[in-house]
Amino acid sequence: MRARWIIAAIVLLPLLAATGYGIAAQYPLIDKLENAPPRSAFSRKLIADGARLAAIGGCHLCHTAPDGADFAGNRPIPTPFGTIYSTNITPAPGSGIGQWSEAAFARAMRAGISRTGRHQFPAFPYPHFARLSDADLHALYAFLMTRRPVETTQLPNRLLFPLNQRWLMTFWNILFFHPASSRRDPRHDAEWNRGAYLVAGLGHCGDCHTPRNLFGAEESGRKFAGGRGEGWTGPALPAAPTPWSTAQLFHYLRHGWDQTHGAAAGPMQAVAAGLGQADPADVRAIAAYLSSREPRTALPRGHSGNAEPAAGNRLGAALFAGACARCHAGGAPMLPPHGIDLRLSTAIAAADPRDAILTVLGGIRQPDGRAGPYMPGFADSFSDRQMAALLSFVRARYGGGPAWRGLASRVRALRQGRGQS
Ligand code: HEC
Ligand code: HEC
Ligand code: HEC
Repeated sequence: MRARWIIAAIVLLPLLAATGYGIAAQYPLIDKLENAPPRSAFSRKLIADGARLAAIGGCHLCHTAPDGADFAGNRPIPTPFGTIYSTNITPAPGSGIGQWSEAAFARAMRAGISRTGRHQFPAFPYPHFARLSDADLHALYAFLMTRRPVETTQLPNRLLFPLNQRWLMTFWNILFFHPASSRRDPRHDAEWNRGAYLVAGLGHCGDCHTPRNLFGAEESGRKFAGGRGEGWTGPALPAAPTPWSTAQLFHYLRHGWDQTHGAAAGPMQAVAAGLGQADPADVRAIAAYLSSREPRTALPRGHSGNAEPAAGNRLGAALFAGACARCHAGGAPMLPPHGIDLRLSTAIAAADPRDAILTVLGGIRQPDGRAGPYMPGFADSFSDRQMAALLSFVRARYGGGPAWRGLASRVRALRQGRGQS
């Protein structure tokens, strides 16, 4: 049996490689520009538009290493297949994209092919960026080409063989990359259409909110059914116990919190911080699109609170009263520093306790020291057993759904940074 597999692999791999190279060869190298275009090639307005679009696309987030220069790359991006380091997208002529023409930039963004004809890995969200309009791409190009150029040495990816083979992406693209340019839906207005375009494209929201298959591709039939990002669960949109209005979504996306739905936590904080710098009209469009996905029958999805099943858990109740109640006692709407009534919490209502555990362990801090909702982390205050008792109390009292199982070991794994995928 095993021998047969080995023989099959020996025969098939070179065959695949030959086809892969063959197909890859259809992407020619695009010649270098003599010089990076000068700043005067782009109007001030165009550059400012590009900046506000880049904030939606998260370019800075993924292309800036901790303590590294802006957009100079080398930020480790964890994937289920290993770590990929983002590239330098400053206009540095050597290691950056300073000698990339706009055509080369557009091909990378829309087809996942670099200037030299090499395949990109989809940790770079080109499957989403493929939808970008010419106008938006042009503004992004203007913005990037006017950043400060910084030369860097690209760190090598740490991917398992054979997943480090770029030509394999030929097949991945054939199977999973079916770029559709965003078509206007005539049943909806211009704002809704802009929102749909931004969510599917530049905002790459599906990256964390859509489930993925074994090959790391988003499942096309299950858009926004809930996904994974940086070890957190990106909840289904919508999944909150109370429906979102457009105004509430706008406030949440723009400021990172909303009175009735609470604060953005984990990787969503940085997404919201980016949206805080975007064009408000674009954020309103995203909110309008998302809230149209909310079920129209306004059935209260909230859980009425349930004292009974929680009654046996004295330890959990005592820990909650001592550590949480002063901020989450419920009743009043959330206003920093108070958190929401936990009956309204998506994390507590979720089938998987992952985000609830991560939030209670790490607390909530606004990125970049901005003012906003704050919750202390409790990783150092409680043991795994105490944390499990506390969370099972909160789940039973406020969550409504079936009890979370195996909490202590989940807490231990997430505390140690395991259980990432
Ligand atoms: C989720 C993380 C992520 C986001 C968000 C992201 N990138 Fe990237 N990008 C990457 C990674 C990782 C690579 C390298 C892929 C590879 O090595 O195959 C990359 C590669 C690129 C490349 C190809 C560069 C080269 O030298 O080959 C360009 C151009 C680029 N990104 C531009 C952008 C722009 C513009 C934005 C914002 C609109 C953006 N990226 C947002 C992760 C990201
Ligand atoms: C100093 C006030 C404070 C304390 C103490 C506190 N929290 Fe929070 N908590 C907040 C704030 C503010 C937020 C962000 C707004 C929100 O989402 O409720 C938050 C968010 C949360 C969330 C995410 C809610 C969601 O889905 O948006 C959970 C779960 C949570 N807290 C649980 C707890 C538990 C359990 C304790 C006790 C161990 C606790 N908190 C103690 C202030 C506090
Ligand atoms: C890098 C991963 C990531 C990306 C990209 C991302 N999100 Fe999220 N999002 C999360 C996580 C994780 C949560 C849950 C954490 C929390 O409680 O805030 C979340 C929560 C949310 C919520 C609150 C859901 C609820 O019921 O509480 C909304 C709304 C949302 N995201 C919208 C968006 C939109 C719109 C985009 C694209 C512009 C986006 N997200 C992109 C990771 C991501």
